[in-house]
Amino acid sequence: MHTTDKTNDRRKLVNNMKLQRLTIVLCSFGVLLFCGCKTIQKLPVTHTTDAHTYVKRCSTCHAVPHPSRLKYEHWKDKITVMSGKQMPVITELEKISVLSYINNHSGKGKKLYKLRCGSCHTEPDVERLRPDEWKNQLVVLDGNMPVFSEEERLAVVRYLETYAKRGRFKSEAQSAAIKGLQYPELRKIPPSFSLNDMEGNQFSLRKTEGKAVIVHFWATWCEPCREELSTLQSIWKKFANEDLQIVGIVSCKEREVDVKNFVLDQGVTFPILVDTTGQTYKSYLVKMLPTTYLIGRDGKILARANGAINWENNEIVNYIQEIVQQ
Ligand code: HEC
Ligand code: HEC
Repeated sequence: MHTTDKTNDRRKLVNNMKLQRLTIVLCSFGVLLFCGCKTIQKLPVTHTTDAHTYVKRCSTCHAVPHPSRLKYEHWKDKITVMSGKQMPVITELEKISVLSYINNHSGKGKKLYKLRCGSCHTEPDVERLRPDEWKNQLVVLDGNMPVFSEEERLAVVRYLETYAKRGRFKSEAQSAAIKGLQYPELRKIPPSFSLNDMEGNQFSLRKTEGKAVIVHFWATWCEPCREELSTLQSIWKKFANEDLQIVGIVSCKEREVDVKNFVLDQGVTFPILVDTTGQTYKSYLVKMLPTTYLIGRDGKILARANGAINWENNEIVNYIQEIVQQ
């Protein structure tokens, strides 16, 4: 009786131990899984268009980087637009290798060609590629990351801007919120333009070199533009002797006589240009009126305002003072 009890006990014990071991194994497996999952951080927001673009473009060659890991200041300038039919490779050596494969349809470059040119779409049939074209079309990223249009670049930068690790940018963004300014294309070179003013004089952005510039897109039919123009005029007067250029741009749909009357009414004395082809509105991605860009004395975009802002506001005036003195 006793012995059987003992054996039963032992069996139980052994079974218990087995169970315990199993639980330990399972638990650690669980922990591993848990830890494993934790390293793959979920993106903060995935349902917006910006997030879709970010995932679509930044997931093809490696796991999507969590923006909170990235330093915005560093990465915002590292997103490169492939223009026309340009396609990316990572290094100069890769370019040589891929080019040689496109030229000869054989050799060591084949593996790399498959890897690089097959990561975003199925690798194109190499025999259909014209070697002379591809010499110019292969872009060496050299540490930059590729997107395929300016819109995509803006979406990725916006997404990073919102969720990335912030340094100095944080305070800039905070003050931007106060001022109604945004910093979407921070430090980018603005598209150039050369347009005629109401008197037929040509005004070229290039000629403003060394000055800070406010480029203001507006229309006569736009109610908020009316008030804003008069506050811009006061800035124009205030900074008359400093390195600040203000320029207004209306679209080609405006009647000249309307613009002239409007400008006269408001007492505006800075140049008002007409975008006769619509190209400037397009290149500055003007989606609403008014839209205003601030360009620093170094010729790079500092900020943008979508919608009207009050240029007589003290903070704005101080900000412009800062920009002009920089
Ligand atoms: C064509 C392939 C490719 C695409 C597309 C791509 N990357 Fe990369 N990425 C690389 C390669 C290769 C490296 C590592 C090479 C290096 O350090 O130069 C890298 C490295 C990185 C790194 C540094 C490593 C790290 O994890 O911190 C970050 C951050 C990064 N990429 C972000 C992005 C973002 C953001 C996008 C989307 C705009 C993107 N990548 C799209 C190929 C790509
Ligand atoms: C990071 C993603 C990515 C990589 C890497 C990539 N492509 Fe592409 N490729 C695209 C996208 C996106 C398009 C469509 C572009 C468009 O229509 O604007 C495209 C289109 C093409 C086309 C069709 C263009 C046309 O004539 O309409 C060819 C050919 C092509 N890629 C070849 C290559 C080759 C060769 C490589 C390797 C060097 C490569 N791609 C690497 C994203 C990529």
